Amino acid sequence: MLETDFSNIAASELGFRRIDLSAELAAWEQQLSGAVGELYGQAADEDGMLGWIRLPEQPVELEEVEQLAGSLRSRFTDLVVLGIGGSSLGALAVISALQHPYRQLQQDGDGLRVHFIDNVDADQMNALLEVLDPATTLVNVISKSGTTAETMAAYLLMRNWLEQALGSAYSAQVIATTDPHSGILRPLAQQQGYRLLSVPANVGGRFSVLSPVGLLPIALAGIDVRALLSGAARSNETVSRPVHDNPIMQAALSQYLSYRAGRNISVLMPYSSRLDRLTDWFVQLWAESLGKARDRRGSLVNVGSTPLGAVGATDQHSQVQLFNEGPDDKLVAFIRIAAPDRQLSIPAVTPPVSALGYLEGRSVSELLLAEQAATAHALLQHGKPSYTITLPRLDAGTLGELLQFLMWQTAVMGELLNINTYDQPGVELGKEYTYALMGREGFEEVRGRLEGAGVLKEERG
Ligand code: PA5
Repeated sequence: MLETDFSNIAASELGFRRIDLSAELAAWEQQLSGAVGELYGQAADEDGMLGWIRLPEQPVELEEVEQLAGSLRSRFTDLVVLGIGGSSLGALAVISALQHPYRQLQQDGDGLRVHFIDNVDADQMNALLEVLDPATTLVNVISKSGTTAETMAAYLLMRNWLEQALGSAYSAQVIATTDPHSGILRPLAQQQGYRLLSVPANVGGRFSVLSPVGLLPIALAGIDVRALLSGAARSNETVSRPVHDNPIMQAALSQYLSYRAGRNISVLMPYSSRLDRLTDWFVQLWAESLGKARDRRGSLVNVGSTPLGAVGATDQHSQVQLFNEGPDDKLVAFIRIAAPDRQLSIPAVTPPVSALGYLEGRSVSELLLAEQAATAHALLQHGKPSYTITLPRLDAGTLGELLQFLMWQTAVMGELLNINTYDQPGVELGKEYTYALMGREGFEEVRGRLEGAGVLKEERG
C-alpha cells in the first residue's frame, strides 16, 4: 500500500499565499468528488475513452495474455516490441522496474530479454538485427490505430528480416496488438496468420499499460501481471475515498493549485534507478493528456503543465540546483522505496578512512532515503513545494498501484482544467504532415499545402 506525505505542500508558499491543503480540499470537495464520480460513471461506456478505469478489476484478454506468455517464454530468448508513445512506454517502465536490471547481460534469467523499438533510427535497428537470432526472436507489433508510420516501418523491417530467415513459418513469431475493429493491422495480421490481441476501443494509448498493450510484453518478461492488476485495483479503491482521506485527489489538487499559481512544471523524481523509465511514461501521460489548446466549451485556453523527469540521487548533482535556486515554477513529486529487495551494507575498511566513517555499516538504501529527505527539506527552505509517495517495496503490486495512481491524478487534473484529457489533436497534425511529405495516398491535398508553404523539400536519407 502506497503512503503519501503532503506536509511540504502545506508548509510552502503557493504564489503569494500559503496553501492549507485541508482547507482547499474542503473548498474543492464537491468538485473533486463530482469529477471522480463522473469519470467512474462513464468507465463502462464503449464509445468513451475511460475504459482504463475498469481494467484492474475487469482485465481484457488476460487469460489469452497469460497463455501466450506461458507457451512462448520457454521457446524464445528475445522479444522485440514495436510501438511508440503509449504503445510502448508503459511496458518499458514496468519491465525496467521489475525485471533483473541487467537481464540483457544474463544468459538464462527470468523472462525474455525485451528490446523496444520506439523510433525510426536506422543505426539502432541495424544494430539490433545484427545481434539478434531470428530463430529465437519474437516480435510484438503494437499500434491501436494500425497506421502509425514509425511502428509500421519497423514492422515491415522486422517482418522482412524474419521472413528471409524463416520463410512463411515466420508468422508464428509475430503477435499483433491493435484495435478490435478498425485499422489495417488487424486484417493484415489475420491474412498473415499472426496471433492477435486487442487494445480495447475505449482505452487510449497512454492509458493502456494495464491492457494487452502492456500486459503481454510484461508477462513475457516474466512479471506477475495479476499482481500488477490487483495493485492497480487498490488505487481504484483509494480514489473513491472521501477527499480528506484520498491521496489521489490531494495530489491532483496540489498539482492544479500549483499550476494555477504559476508553477507550471510538474517534476516526477523517483529515488530509484529502477524507476528511471517510469518518468518517461509519466512525461508522455501528463504532456499528451493535459497540453491542450481548447477547453471543453471550445474556448482557446492553451493549458498544460510541463512534465519533467528527474532521478534521485543522480539529479542532485544536476537538476536540483535549478529546482532550489531557479525560478519558482515547479512542483516536485518524490517517489521513495522504503526497502530494497536485498539490503546492501557499506563495508568498513582497514585501515579505517576517518572521513568516510559516517558511511561504514550504513545501508545503501538508508543513504538514498536520507538524500531524498534532505532534498525535500532543502527545497522547502528555498520556498519550493513537494510531496512524497512512498512504496513499501518495489514489486508488481506496488508498481501497479502507482501506475493507476498517476493515471487517476492525470485524469482528475484534466477534469479540473476542463479539457479533453484523451485526445491529441496536436500530435495528429504532425502525423498528417508526415504522411503528406512521404507521399501517402489520400494526403495529396495536404502535400499541396505544404508545398505552397515551402515545407516540401527533397529529403534524402
Ligand atoms: O497516447 C497516445 O494515444 C499516443 O501516444 C499513441 O499511443 C501513439 O501515438 C501510438 O499510436 P498507435 O498505437 O495508434 O500506433
